Amino acid sequence: MTAIVSESSEEHASVLEMIELLQIDVLEEEVLQGKPEREHDPFSKNVLRKQRHWERKLAARKSKRKEEKLRRKLNRHSEDMAHPQLSKRIMKAVTKERLAEARFSGLKVCIDLSMSHRMSDKETSRLAAQLRRLYGSNKRASKPFHLFLTSLGEDSRLLAECVRMNAGFLNYTMERTEQSCLDIFPPENIIYLSPDAEEALERVDQDKVYVLGGLVDESVQKTLSLCRAKEAGVHAARLPIDQYMQKTANSKNFHSKILAINQVFDILMAVCDTGSWTHALDKCFPRGKGYEVAQHGHSTCES
Ligand SMILES: C[S@@+](CC[C@H](N)C(=O)[O-])C[C@H]1O[C@@H](n2cnc3c(N)ncnc32)[C@H](O)[C@@H]1O
Repeated sequence: MTAIVSESSEEHASVLEMIELLQIDVLEEEVLQGKPEREHDPFSKNVLRKQRHWERKLAARKSKRKEEKLRRKLNRHSEDMAHPQLSKRIMKAVTKERLAEARFSGLKVCIDLSMSHRMSDKETSRLAAQLRRLYGSNKRASKPFHLFLTSLGEDSRLLAECVRMNAGFLNYTMERTEQSCLDIFPPENIIYLSPDAEEALERVDQDKVYVLGGLVDESVQKTLSLCRAKEAGVHAARLPIDQYMQKTANSKNFHSKILAINQVFDILMAVCDTGSWTHALDKCFPRGKGYEVAQHGHSTCES
């Protein structure tokens, strides 16, 4: 009995209630058996027996409640694993944190959109899709880059298309400006990437800004980005495809070194992650372009 009395006040109340009911039970039984009504004796054998019975029941109920609590906890855990809403929420917070951090310490990569008026509507839509993929890669990266979209007019066809095609575009964690990349970065820090540049990019340097030409040229407008770099008087470089890759035989004898901006972005990301052009090109260079990594690439160029 002492043990029961020391339980929580809720349990205490329910035990007292049960005892009262038991006593009524016993008295009713005695009346039915024709025994004379007597003064209520809380320590009669019958009452004590029933009290012990209820004590056992109460203890069983308590351990059942404990088991139930544990079961619910385990269920919650396995639910998290099966429906990872919770882990999704955590991942979202981690991504947000990483992108915010990239604004201070990430490698600066800029998409120069000053030439977007030279594209058709179809090319504009394709560029909007490439920007979405590029942003997706950055979001998934363990060390994202600090992204800039420059010369993106507020009333431009490209911005309207990005908003139409890419959910949440205006909330992407990146810098978006109408200003030119040439106005916001010191020219000596700019490396303009162009497939037509003479020089091959050897290393990716944290102090530089890597500018990609925001262009999709289905009707190839050759050397556009190289001309832009030359006019601005900034350094231009191409990916070191010749140094690390060789042509593959294919039925159409097709070989192209011109990649989409998101593909160039993925290669830059991979080279920063692994420090190896061989790995980066092997992993990210699109198979359909008619090139493969050469067995003996120039490892001297690895950053
Ligand atoms: C589809 S390409 C545009 C090609 C266009 N003819 C030009 O003049 O740049 C889009 C951008 O990706 C980058 N790019 C594509 N392939 C490249 C390569 N092999 N080396 C360096 N940059 C490349 C360049 O910044 C280029 O402007």
